[in-house]
Amino acid sequence: MPNAPDLMQQVENMAVAAALERDADRGRLLEILLEVRDAKGGVGISKQGLMQVAERLHLFPAEAYEVATAFPAVNYAAAAPYATERCGDLVCALMHGTDAGVGVCRNRCDGARTEPDPRGFAAYRAAGGYQVLDRLRAYPGERTSLLERIATHQAVGRAGVGFPVAEKWRQAMAVGRTPVIIVNGDEGELAVFKDRFILESDPHGVVEAALVAARITSADKIFFYVRDDYAPIHAIVRRAMKDVVEAGFTDGITLELRRSGGAFICGEETALIASLEGRPARPVERPPFPTTRGYLGRPTILHNVETYFRLRAAWSTISTPEVPVSSLLDAGVVLFSVSGRVQAPGPKPVRDLARLSDLVEAAGGLVGGVELGGMVIGGSSGTIVSAADCQRPLADLKREGLRLGTGGAIVFGADDDRRVIASRMAAYLARESCGQCGPCRVGTGKARDVLAAPGTLDTALIEDLSTVMTEASLCALGRNAGRFLSRLSPLLASQDA
Ligand SMILES: Cc1cc2nc3c(=O)[nH]c(=O)nc-3n(C[C@H](O)[C@H](O)[C@H](O)COP(=O)(O)O)c2cc1C
Ligand code: SF4
Repeated sequence: MPNAPDLMQQVENMAVAAALERDADRGRLLEILLEVRDAKGGVGISKQGLMQVAERLHLFPAEAYEVATAFPAVNYAAAAPYATERCGDLVCALMHGTDAGVGVCRNRCDGARTEPDPRGFAAYRAAGGYQVLDRLRAYPGERTSLLERIATHQAVGRAGVGFPVAEKWRQAMAVGRTPVIIVNGDEGELAVFKDRFILESDPHGVVEAALVAARITSADKIFFYVRDDYAPIHAIVRRAMKDVVEAGFTDGITLELRRSGGAFICGEETALIASLEGRPARPVERPPFPTTRGYLGRPTILHNVETYFRLRAAWSTISTPEVPVSSLLDAGVVLFSVSGRVQAPGPKPVRDLARLSDLVEAAGGLVGGVELGGMVIGGSSGTIVSAADCQRPLADLKREGLRLGTGGAIVFGADDDRRVIASRMAAYLARESCGQCGPCRVGTGKARDVLAAPGTLDTALIEDLSTVMTEASLCALGRNAGRFLSRLSPLLASQDA
């Protein structure tokens, strides 16, 4: 009878063989490593297993090692299973007040624990779904007018920057090579769970839009890139992909689910593409933008889950299948992820938000005995807003530079220490920095340490760090971390006053 380590080795050998048998493609390296981890009950691949994979994929050992160690979710050579609970990040710490945190993670900071009950293919179809795709399959010439509708509807990306959708598609179509479509469901942002909510509710709304995007732009491949620890959603997306293939809707367009590697940076578009190509998720300088030179050098159209989901609003005169979150068809509605010290945290679609404090009402009010202290707006790359500013007109705050980003809103109380909140955010950013450029790697680490140190805050150092990080970081993680620091000093000073 084999002892436990031998047994684990046997399991690994079989898992490596099975993963390579399925598809020995270098681009699937991350996926192969995750498959082996899953087969081993969360324990990462061993050095020996990794070398086997490297040999079969014709990689240098160092290349395979670089990828295995770049993604926390691979859990390379670890003895214990990959931990997906007790993240200890800001919301955990705020709600439970411990260093370890006791929240259930997988971006369920809203406390959502129920099994998802997504609308299935038949129900989506019966409600009028896939009519836009039907139309395009019957009349391919309508692709021009459908794209025009996206432009006149002024559909914009929902990942935070708000870039016009039609413009991205046109840029990709102008390249003269077959484009690739990517649905970005990484959602690694701190306490943001809107994409989870959409995919758990109505996955076919996203799948149809991605197929329509592929037909309009003549793309031949769609990747659904989903956060690794959104395990229930992997099954939902796989099921939805199977449904459309079996219905004969794909016409040669291939659909593939890929999981991300457990780091916030995996969602940055160039890092995401690198991980799809079997490389570490590290952003690269732009231009060229992925729209012109992306996955394997091909023009690549990459949008957030919510962006695809909301495209149906542009095509509403053709088909608007009754939508579980029907308000998302209204351009004035923002889908906020509200968490923290509120009675009913969760995804909240809100039309024409007048003041940030109205989000507290949308989330059932503050928990008993808590007075509003403020909010962290815009997720990990966001801003801490004081209670007084939460009561001011949102339009004024926006004029002063506030950005809602991906709609994260972490509510805290008057008794919660803003310095602790800031230092938790800084710790998160330091952990998530991919480390390839100095201003971000060193800056986020220093900011974490300075904010966590007892005593008077070294505001001059904070200002310096902010300037360097904002001006010299390669990607938006470092730049936004710098902007976050720039707004901090007056906020912390007003608390101490
Ligand atoms: C550190 C970092 C993480 C990101 N994570 C995500 C993500 O999880 N999901 C997402 O859609 N976009 C994410 N983005 C933005 C993407 O790079 C890209 O701009 C976006 O997916 C485009 O989508 P849109 O056109 O729908 O706005 C991230 C950007 C940065 C800098
Ligand atoms: S800014 Fe930070 S996350 Fe972005 S590339 Fe540089 S080190 Fe990596």
